[in-house]
Amino acid sequence: MSDFWKFGQPLADVEPIASSSDPDWQQAKPDAIAKSLKRALAQPHGNWYVVDASRRITSKARKFRIAGKDLVAWRANGEIIMGPEACPHMGASLAGACVRDGKLICPWHGLGFGKESHGTWKPYTVHDDGVLSWVRIGPADPTVPLPVLPVRPERFMAGVVRLEAHCEPADVIANRLDPWHGIHFHPYSFASLKVLALEEDSITVRVAKRLIGKLVVETDAIFFSPDPRSIVMTILEGEGKGSVVETHAAPIDEGHTAIVEATLATSDREGFRHALKIQRLIRPLIERSARRLWVDDIAYAERLYELRH
Ligand code: FES
Ligand SMILES: [Fe+2]
Repeated sequence: MSDFWKFGQPLADVEPIASSSDPDWQQAKPDAIAKSLKRALAQPHGNWYVVDASRRITSKARKFRIAGKDLVAWRANGEIIMGPEACPHMGASLAGACVRDGKLICPWHGLGFGKESHGTWKPYTVHDDGVLSWVRIGPADPTVPLPVLPVRPERFMAGVVRLEAHCEPADVIANRLDPWHGIHFHPYSFASLKVLALEEDSITVRVAKRLIGKLVVETDAIFFSPDPRSIVMTILEGEGKGSVVETHAAPIDEGHTAIVEATLATSDREGFRHALKIQRLIRPLIERSARRLWVDDIAYAERLYELRH
């Protein structure tokens, strides 16, 4: 993985790439985007799939469908457990089943499930990174023992959104590999967006994000895809330096994808320490803004999928 991933590179005097005075439609070259996507899709993934925000897995069991499999997730004694959603006895749904003493109790005849296998029912390998929950479906890959995560800020407030789209994970990644659509497709959010550098495996942009009215903040950010179903934006310079937006996509079924996006906002500002104390109040604002952008970007990703079919 490249060094810039550690976001140590100063960007203050980075010159925009030569062609950046061209109109966006000329800069956004379908072949180059396709090449970046191909590189992203070739990364190892270890069969890890994002599930949802870690905090949304509670002692109330929830059903998820991932990669064509129905599974149930719950939290027992602080740990996340995930397993097949059908009871191995007579097939009752374990979604919404109650949890007693850490065991998920089948609503039909009371069989209890935990971290141990029961006949054909085997819990999945899971990972809780503190912000997101993950499940491994498929064989382990020793080269990817855990989900590939970017460098996260030391202290942050996190907002996580989960949305569904009629497309494939690759369409979600392709959307993010096209920064040129930003000011045209999300004019309410971006005042300007210039591509500073196009590397084989990353795109660096200078973006002016609208706050309120004419008030904008300018930041330099790098997009990098660490695995075939994730794309991460890290703020390199400007307001919120070190903040990260992780977009992860997990297939539900063919042509149906879950998008789980975590925004990990940080700041050097003095007031950030106080803001952290009221992050429960700020989180919905972070999530609302992420959700709004995804309304447009889902339309973009679904259009890519539709054109292929
Ligand atoms: S169906 Fe679950 S215990 Fe019988
Ligand atoms: Fe977008």
